Amino acid sequence: MSSPVPPNPGLAVPLPSAKERFAHALTLVPELADVETVIRASFKSDVAAMRDIPDYLLGLGGKRIRPVLTLLCGKALGVEAIDDDLLDVSAGIELIHMATLMHDDIIDQSPVRRHQPSPYARFGTAATLLSGDFLLTRAFGLCAKLDDEIITATEQACIELVEGEALESALHTQHHTRASSLTIAQRKTASLFRLAAFCATHLAGAPARTKELMSTFGESLGIAFQIIDDILDVTSDEATLGKKQGLDLLERKPSLVNVLWLESGDPEAKRLLAAPLDEAQEQLWVDSALERLKSGPVVAETKRLAASYADTASKALTEALGGDLHALNPAGEALFAVVDFALERVL
Ligand code: FPP
Ligand code: MG
Repeated sequence: MSSPVPPNPGLAVPLPSAKERFAHALTLVPELADVETVIRASFKSDVAAMRDIPDYLLGLGGKRIRPVLTLLCGKALGVEAIDDDLLDVSAGIELIHMATLMHDDIIDQSPVRRHQPSPYARFGTAATLLSGDFLLTRAFGLCAKLDDEIITATEQACIELVEGEALESALHTQHHTRASSLTIAQRKTASLFRLAAFCATHLAGAPARTKELMSTFGESLGIAFQIIDDILDVTSDEATLGKKQGLDLLERKPSLVNVLWLESGDPEAKRLLAAPLDEAQEQLWVDSALERLKSGPVVAETKRLAASYADTASKALTEALGGDLHALNPAGEALFAVVDFALERVL
């Protein structure tokens, strides 16, 4: 499905790329700075580690895609002035995301995040685990100021995050399918995207049908986003990823790429069903698997799957915003740029 782009004034002028349109989208939400202020204010504690570890993780950067979504969804649905409720929800969702990253690095024993030592590697398991708990509790403090629908939706998203992570068992320990891999992507990643879109739509005072459509938009975008992350593990490089390439292969993760590779019947993929061997041998296999996968049909098929979720997201968004792509406000257009940007990372 084609997305609206700014009018092209002359044939000689190229259309802006999704990356440029995403950069433009960010200019529409200067309130991100206010969200950051709310996030930082919630690091308040007389225990130094509860300030320092969250501060360290926030300082590692990131796209802040969840608060960007809440702010843009609110504006796309007619909110003119971002109020404290929308700021609190935007900050709360990013705090939940930060808590999951802290816990995820512990579970994965991951030494690196965003080119730097992960919080777990830098501060140790106990302090990082507790900082995640601290941020999760702060997030609930922010969301609990709002009404029951927001509280219930936040609880649901957090339950799904935990379930998604719990379902992510290694391929050599449990049988996974395309369906189970998609369930994991939906729960561990798309649940927060859905929450972001739902909360913003609810706070904008939109009717139930719009909330439903915007939730579908957020969820489908989130699934596409996770599938693309799975692809980047294979197609990107260490400099871009901020961590080693091929970790999903090495760790036998039930990523969409790994599961579709197994489904393809390629005998090389069978190794995913066996526990990793010694480090040197594994690295040799990962390197050859990366070469095989990069330009092969499995990645192409995984890309098509991501594109189909992005398409579902665009369709739900179009309907939620009234069905007329020519009547969108700038924030509405920017949401389509977010969808395209998510895909352009690989497509
Ligand atoms: C990163 O995925 C991990 C997640 C998106 C979800 C993690 C969820 C938990 C640890 C459950 C804890 C829940 C709460 C509410 C605190 P990834 O490993 O594919 O990505 P990465 O490469 O960024 O690590
Ligand atoms: Mg991880």
